Amino acid sequence: MALPWDFRPLHGPRVALELLRDDDLEALYAMQSDPEVCRYLLYEARSREKVGEVLAVDAGATRLENPGDYVQPAIRDEDGHFAGTMYFHLTSVDDRTAEIGWILAPSSRGRGYATEAARVLLDLAFGELGLHRVYAELDPRNAASVALCERLGMRHEGHFIEHMWLKGEWTDTGIFAILEREWAARRDG
Ligand SMILES: CC(C)(COP(=O)(O)OP(=O)(O)OC[C@H]1O[C@@H](n2cnc3c(N)ncnc32)[C@H](O)[C@@H]1OP(=O)(O)O)[C@@H](O)C(=O)NCCC(=O)NCCS
Repeated sequence: MALPWDFRPLHGPRVALELLRDDDLEALYAMQSDPEVCRYLLYEARSREKVGEVLAVDAGATRLENPGDYVQPAIRDEDGHFAGTMYFHLTSVDDRTAEIGWILAPSSRGRGYATEAARVLLDLAFGELGLHRVYAELDPRNAASVALCERLGMRHEGHFIEHMWLKGEWTDTGIFAILEREWAARRDG
C-alpha cells in the first residue's frame, strides 16, 4: 500500500479535485448553509463562521497515512468553478479500507459531476493507494445518493434500522461498498 499519500490535484474527464481555498468560502457557505443540501447529512445547516472554520481545517487535511486521516477536496467543473466537495476518509490501514462521500451545490447537480469525481477517487483508492474496500454510509431516504452508489457499482451491504438519533428522529443508515476486484472488473468490462 502506497501510504503515506500526500494530496495532489486529481482530474477526471471534466472535473478536477483540488484542495479547498480561501476564495471557496462563499460557494462553500452557500452550499453548507442550505437546509436542503444538509437534509441527509450528519450536520445541520452551518453558519458562515462555522464554514470558515471547517474550510481552514479541511484545506489543511492533506495526508493519508493513519486511520482517521481524510481529504475533503473541492470538485471543480470544466470552467474551474466550485461544484461541491468530495470526502475520502482512511478508516483502516490494516484492512485497507476507506469511506467515500459527496456533496454537490444544487446548481451543479444532474450532470454526473459527483459520479465522475467518485470514479477519480475510486481509481486512486484501488490503484495508487492499493486499498481493498471503499464504502459509503447514507440515509436510505437519500435517493440521489443511493442512485450514485448504484451508478458506481457499489453493493448494498447493510441497512441499520433506527440506530442513530439525529435531527430529532431515529434515523436508519444504509451501507454501500465496493471491493478492489469489483472495481477492476467494472473497469476491464
Ligand atoms: C448526492 C448528490 C451528490 C447526487 O448528485 P447528482 O447530481 O444526482 O449526481 P451526479 O453528479 O453523479 O449526477 C447524476 C445525474 O446526472 C445525470 N447525468 C448527466 N450527465 C451525466 C454523466 N455524464 N454521467 C453521469 N450522470 C450524468 C444522471 O442521469 C443523473 O441524473 P438523474 O438523477 O436525473 O438520473 C446530490 O444529490 C447532493 O449533493 N445531495 C445533498 C448532499 C448529500 O446528501 N450528500 C450525500 C450524503 S450521503
